[in-house]
Amino acid sequence: MPKTQYWDYTFEDSMDVIAKLPSVAGRIYQNVFKNGKVPNINPDADYGHNLAHVLGFSENKDFVELMRLYLTIHTDHEGGNVSAHTTHLVGSALSDPYLSLAAGLNGLAGPLHGLANQEVLRWTLKLRDAVGVNASDETIKDYIWSTLKSGQVVPGFGHAVLRKTDPRYSCQREFALKHLPSDPMFQLVSKLYNIVPRILTEHGKTKNPWPNVDAHSGVLLQHYGLVEQDFYTVLFGVSRAIGVLSQLIWDRALGMPLERPKSLSTQDILKIVKK
Ligand code: MLT
Repeated sequence: MPKTQYWDYTFEDSMDVIAKLPSVAGRIYQNVFKNGKVPNINPDADYGHNLAHVLGFSENKDFVELMRLYLTIHTDHEGGNVSAHTTHLVGSALSDPYLSLAAGLNGLAGPLHGLANQEVLRWTLKLRDAVGVNASDETIKDYIWSTLKSGQVVPGFGHAVLRKTDPRYSCQREFALKHLPSDPMFQLVSKLYNIVPRILTEHGKTKNPWPNVDAHSGVLLQHYGLVEQDFYTVLFGVSRAIGVLSQLIWDRALGMPLERPKSLSTQDILKIVKK
């Protein structure tokens, strides 16, 4: 096959894997947490509706709307994050889109990456159990300072490249303000939004004190009854596939080369260290 055609096959495989993902995610969810029966995909409904459907939530139109939002904002925002870069790296060996995506999702499973939304939810539930849902700002501030003073981070705040509130956080907040303004966990998350950035700024050890995408998604899923936290990274992966596989098609269309970072010999390293 001439190199100029590589993109076409990458496109076809990518479309196939993206089309299959709601069924795969539904199979995982139903096998692990429910009765093993996966509802059939409805070819006349959109992707978000079908994702809600295979999980058993399509009767709730707000949850369907949440899936549409969730799928859109988690696709990607640039190519440097672990899952996007890993998919690109493995794909640069001309491994097919299935293999490349599988590699990327292994990265997504790390707590500093896609697993972070579970970590945030766990931390927020721990906070709720410790201080109560109606805790005063002062009590929450004390809890956050004690977290920081014990050398831990406040999960969901900060980002490798963003230096303001993650726009993906803002759209989830808008969704919550519209659909679940009186949910106690959302109200707690809202309080954190007002309190944490100021404390992190005063603490002085973080470049970006603002919340990121992972700081919000867990409470929205919990609100609608999707409470199985171990499933959240699978859900993230369905969305991320659309972003990273689109990038993979472009990699092939642009003829991107095999990626190979430079290595240094011990002598080279010694020279740097001695400088
Ligand atoms: C992501 O969406 O992958 C996260 O924001 C992490 C990152 O961009 O580094």
